[in-house]
Amino acid sequence: MAKQKVTVVGAGHVGATVAQRLVENQLADVALVDIVEGLAQGKALDMMQSAATLGFDTTIVGSDNYEHTNNSDVIIVTAGIARKPGMSRDDLLTTNQKIVTQVVKETIQRSPNAIYIVVSNPLDVMTFVAWQTSGLPANRVVGMAGVLDSSRYAAFIAEAIDCSIKDVRAMVLGGHGDSMVPVPEYSTVNGVPITQLLSADVIDQINERTKHGGAEIVSYLKTGSAYYAPAASAVAMAESILLDANRLLPACAYVTGEYGIENVYCGVPVVLNRHGVERIVEIELRDHSYKLLHQSAKTVKELCEKIAAVPL
Ligand code: NAI
Ligand code: 2OP
Repeated sequence: MAKQKVTVVGAGHVGATVAQRLVENQLADVALVDIVEGLAQGKALDMMQSAATLGFDTTIVGSDNYEHTNNSDVIIVTAGIARKPGMSRDDLLTTNQKIVTQVVKETIQRSPNAIYIVVSNPLDVMTFVAWQTSGLPANRVVGMAGVLDSSRYAAFIAEAIDCSIKDVRAMVLGGHGDSMVPVPEYSTVNGVPITQLLSADVIDQINERTKHGGAEIVSYLKTGSAYYAPAASAVAMAESILLDANRLLPACAYVTGEYGIENVYCGVPVVLNRHGVERIVEIELRDHSYKLLHQSAKTVKELCEKIAAVPL
């Protein structure tokens, strides 16, 4: 099979780690782009010089423009700013809206057949922005959050049960924020629901810790947010697309009636393959999870309406 190509926009913490995993795992050739002069070039050159030691023959090239991004199969958007002291959520929203819009305009003309994986925050709204800007069918624009939030949930479940993480499957749906919805009824240890292994109190504690999993890391790092698990999650999605693997993963997809939710990007279980979101999978949820998912989708919709009112 011919080598595939992934453009990663944003060579910061998440973008550079995504690029590193993609080339080291020989998933695709990578074009890394950042607006800061020299940043993507320097990091790409450094990664390229690890090829002999690690033994990979995928290539990586960095640039502060889009010259190397033509005909990418997948475009991963990690460009943007993170919230800093004194900034409101609205400041972040508008700034990243401008950045994501510009990134998509630059990339779509060079790679009209690409599938987008959006990582920039606020995730669900930025995925909506990318979709609107691209003019692509909604199944070709997907956001990364559910894989990360579920991976955090799984880590906390394994810790609480003291079992191998290899046997844990966890699911978190909804928007990527305080309204996210950990789903205990679909979180299992080798098929055994965690509701049979942990008390309701402990599950509640784990659910809360999962919802604030990103903030917990920011409180330690102070100057930035998580990137190892986020990068691993974005690469898992890219891999399912590049290898046409049909993995069922929670991801931010455009929901049009599934779960009784209309016309909003929100975290739901999807099948991911070379077409992007092959389909949204409707699973039966407890009433409680169903209501929380609705509330979460409503929160995302309100944020989307807010940006629609802001002229770019
Ligand atoms: P970072 O600050 O380390 O990197 C962001 C990079 O984007 C910087 O190098 C910056 O120069 C670049 N950039 C800014 N404007 C650009 C433009 N117009 N074109 C190209 N590059 C541009 O931030 P980090 O930690 O890599 O996070 C990136 C984004 O991903 C943030 O918005 C963050 O909140 C989000 N994030 C989302 C997660 C998720 O679960 N969806 C998880 C982790 C981070
Ligand atoms: C996270 O959840 C910041 O969204 C990012 O770590």
